[in-house]
Amino acid sequence: MLELKSFFFKDDKLFILDQRKLPHEEVYFEATNIEDVAYAIKAMLVRGAPAIGCVAAYGFAIGIKDGLDVEKVYNILSNTRPTAVNLFWALNRMKEAYFEKKDLFEEAQKIEQEDIEANIRISKFGASLITEKSVILTHCNTGALATAGVGTALGVIKELHRQGKVDYVLVDETRPYLQGSRLTAFELLKANIPYKIIVDSSAPFLISRGIVKAVFVGADRIASNGDTANKIGTFMLSLACKAYNVPFYVVAPTSTIDFNAKSFQDIPIEERSKDEVLKCKDVFVGPIDSEAINYSFDITPAQNISAIITEKGIAHYPYVDSLKNFKEQI
Ligand code: MRU
Repeated sequence: MLELKSFFFKDDKLFILDQRKLPHEEVYFEATNIEDVAYAIKAMLVRGAPAIGCVAAYGFAIGIKDGLDVEKVYNILSNTRPTAVNLFWALNRMKEAYFEKKDLFEEAQKIEQEDIEANIRISKFGASLITEKSVILTHCNTGALATAGVGTALGVIKELHRQGKVDYVLVDETRPYLQGSRLTAFELLKANIPYKIIVDSSAPFLISRGIVKAVFVGADRIASNGDTANKIGTFMLSLACKAYNVPFYVVAPTSTIDFNAKSFQDIPIEERSKDEVLKCKDVFVGPIDSEAINYSFDITPAQNISAIITEKGIAHYPYVDSLKNFKEQI
């Protein structure tokens, strides 16, 4: 199956699929300079931690090619989205490559290629955790649209489907940006994988009814102790899973582990515009002058996570030693 590309670099140009227009229109935005790339990340034309990292790497190479100062390039791109650590991981790697006088476009391509390969390994590791045909629940979008390859949690689900182990997928719509109903459903439909969209608040009820065999979610930043920042709504899933003994798996490449963060306290949580809550597309769904709270991510404490699946293997609670061990393998 030919995967969707959330971005691609061709003939010296970076093309970014404008995910704001999905699922109805497939339009690529051409990023010709670093400001375009920063805009695409901030306005969420591209989103998903690994994809943000890859696109930022190309943005870095474009900025340097255009003669900008390295610190300026770093600042423009890093001031876009604060939680997804892959952004900073990729920028630090590009900065290092710059000082080592490496070809920066080649380095960006390497980052992209490594993500494609990590996705494949992750999918296989994750799929080994499910033994029979099951109903799987997922949150947000962690597929080809969020990475350079098949995806992380959604990559696992695609692999499970290939192995005949998916009855159907429960897709949380993922308010307010609707990454689930707009993007995950779009990917599952393209891949011919059966799914049902649910409102986020019905997930704990379905879990309590014994319908869900396992929950697979992605991550934006995993602290050294396993505390995990992911799309708002992830934490409540972990609580329901814990209450009803349903496995709750976090799936991410090691580039999503922040070894400088000891715990959740070191993870910055992005707050976005209240308009995302008050409006659905361009229609207000609440009184125009309402106040709103729009944290884009929440924290799932390490002890609520049954396993963390990476391209280096599967880690179990307590996570400190196994994550450290992954670090040594990088
Ligand atoms: O705000 P988004 O859409 O960038 O948030 C995405 C998520 O929370 C994903 O679960 C995470 O980045 C992992 S993507 C493989």
